[in-house]
Amino acid sequence: MKVLSGIQPTGRFHWGNYFGAIRQYIELQDNEQSFYFIADLHALTTVRDPKVLRQNIQDSALDLLALGLQPEKATLFRQSDVPEVAELTWLLMTITQMHLLEKCHAYKDKKARGLAADAGLFTYPVLMAADILMYDSNVVPVGVDQVQHIEVTRDLAQRFNSLYGDDCLVLPEAHVLDSSAKVPGTDGEKMSKSYGNTIPLFDTPKKIRKIINRIKTDSTPVEDPKTPEACAVFNLYRLFATPQQQDELAARYRAGGMGYGEAKTTLYEAAMAYFSESFEKRADLEQRPDDVEDILLQGAKQARQKARDVLERVRTACGLKSLPPEL
Ligand code: TYM
Repeated sequence: MKVLSGIQPTGRFHWGNYFGAIRQYIELQDNEQSFYFIADLHALTTVRDPKVLRQNIQDSALDLLALGLQPEKATLFRQSDVPEVAELTWLLMTITQMHLLEKCHAYKDKKARGLAADAGLFTYPVLMAADILMYDSNVVPVGVDQVQHIEVTRDLAQRFNSLYGDDCLVLPEAHVLDSSAKVPGTDGEKMSKSYGNTIPLFDTPKKIRKIINRIKTDSTPVEDPKTPEACAVFNLYRLFATPQQQDELAARYRAGGMGYGEAKTTLYEAAMAYFSESFEKRADLEQRPDDVEDILLQGAKQARQKARDVLERVRTACGLKSLPPEL
């Protein structure tokens, strides 16, 4: 089974990225052939400062490795280091019906928020389909917000196969963890960089503490009983805690006498303990940028090998000449 997923370097990774996706990458790397990439071509639809983009890409690689991605097990690379993906995007674009893209929520949402809807944003799901189909991926671990894009990928692969041959493209499945498919942000809505409600994975403890303190809670007085499931602090704590720890905190909510400030402290301590090893690993990796670059280049080399094979198959299927190796 081949596993593949991508993550955009549009800013610092947050708890939603980790519990919705990165944690799955790490779990799956042990048993499956896996490809994970930093989606820098996708990020170009929003990050327009080259310096910022370069920094974000570097931070993304450090974060993924610090969180436990192991290059001996999983192939880690930059999306733009595999130019074959741009060609596959075009080939897929020629069979993509406009209505399929018009209904995609990322485009619809961004447009609704007044962001310029350029062709890159509109055709974003086609590039994502190419990312997935490029490596014959079977399984795509993602948070729930990306499921629609995997459906589009399946639609495109089916249409392509019906035109050019059944065995041409492999149909992928989304892999979503129920417990963390949609991690809430500091306002209780989906945690997302574009909503400004994220809690970063790596920042100074002081900053993380400050952001946790900002999590929106209701105005129930300290002494009154509270409903844990209705509280973003509790819902975030669940991600870090064992079932027993969750029951204990839930009981304290229901009993009354505990303020939200105390719940926030419990959440902060749980999060810091959970990520403590990753903080150390990241500090170490930061000192070794050349090693990190080597990992990315080695990953790209492996990814390109697979990409070339698939592209060759696709080019031939749709009537293009196969590319001579000397070109
Ligand atoms: P991106 O960069 O927005 O997010 C990366 C991953 O994090 C998940 N995620 C969440 N999961 C649960 N709760 C949240 N609040 C939350 N916020 C983010 C996302 O679902 C995602 O899995 N288009 C993709 C990147 C991409 C890709 C691909 C993914 C490009 N090509 C091919 C898979 C396969 C994106 O924007 O993810």
